[in-house]
Amino acid sequence: MDTPKKVMLSGIQPSGDLHLGNYLGAIKNWVERTEQFDNYYFMADMHTITVRQVPADLRRRTLEQLAQYIACGLDPEKNTLFIQSHVPAHAQLGWVLNCYTMFGELSRMTQFKDKSARNADNINGGLFTYPSLMAADILLYQPDYVPVGEDQKQHVELTRNVAQRFNHVYGDVFKIPEPYIPKAGARIMCLTNPENKMSKSNPDGCVFLMEKPEDIMRKFKRAVTDCDTERCVRYDREAKPGVSNLMQIYSAVTGKSLEEIEREFEGKGYGAFKPAVGEAVVETLRPIREEATRILSDKAYLEQVYRAGAEKASYIAGKTLRKVYKKVGFVAP
Ligand code: TRP
Repeated sequence: MDTPKKVMLSGIQPSGDLHLGNYLGAIKNWVERTEQFDNYYFMADMHTITVRQVPADLRRRTLEQLAQYIACGLDPEKNTLFIQSHVPAHAQLGWVLNCYTMFGELSRMTQFKDKSARNADNINGGLFTYPSLMAADILLYQPDYVPVGEDQKQHVELTRNVAQRFNHVYGDVFKIPEPYIPKAGARIMCLTNPENKMSKSNPDGCVFLMEKPEDIMRKFKRAVTDCDTERCVRYDREAKPGVSNLMQIYSAVTGKSLEEIEREFEGKGYGAFKPAVGEAVVETLRPIREEATRILSDKAYLEQVYRAGAEKASYIAGKTLRKVYKKVGFVAP
């Protein structure tokens, strides 16, 4: 029977180059869910300016991110791919939701506390109210699920609270979304400091999607393994975080189970294991890099993709925004 598909939405800020953690932890899962859900994925460019950006770099990275989404297998015919700033309803609903988000709630956001500590000379209003804009990003599309990493769960919780508060006053305007943490969630950690999530802020421990094979190999050869005495390839997140992370990566790119990997490297030690992981990653990223480079050189195609995406997104977002404007008492234009 034709029941409508559930709606899924997520975004990544084009504030840095996409890396293996973004791919294995998020984008790869998005690709696998293409048929099952009605999907909206966007470049969250408006969020990036809460910290200072170099304009030309932001523009370039936004387009690169789109090209890389497509190269990773996100089919723009089957997923709505768009640039946040192309859909004015985000800013418009963001303002309204600012008026339904409490100062106290915003003050408790750990990301705000972290980022304001790191950017003490630029603690601007946007950094503080960022979660209201993120709530708008989400609620405009009435999604069922929002796939996010652990670090964004608090923002999705806030979104739910704001939506419930609004609905309580005005009736059922917003669907209450669920955070979606995939079961086999590949949480990819930093190669040099496996206690932390892989992040562009530590480039030595981070493999970028567009990185050259020799650089990728070098990073894997230098990846920290654990200073336990057994020195064997065995999965144990607590006792062997470095090796376990490499196993997780190897498993994600080869499809082999952790047990298969333990068997494959039995008696071989880390010296054989690390380059094997590096090579598997290189081979996984090679076609993505080549395809992204090809797509990026086709400006007309990219433009066509993001325009079509913005048009579809604006249509859906506009419906929600009109409802909200009416509820709060704005005169219809
Ligand atoms: N805040 C997210 C991040 O920093 C990006 C983001 C913005 C987002 N709006 C969103 C993610 C809406 C999911 C849904 O990673």
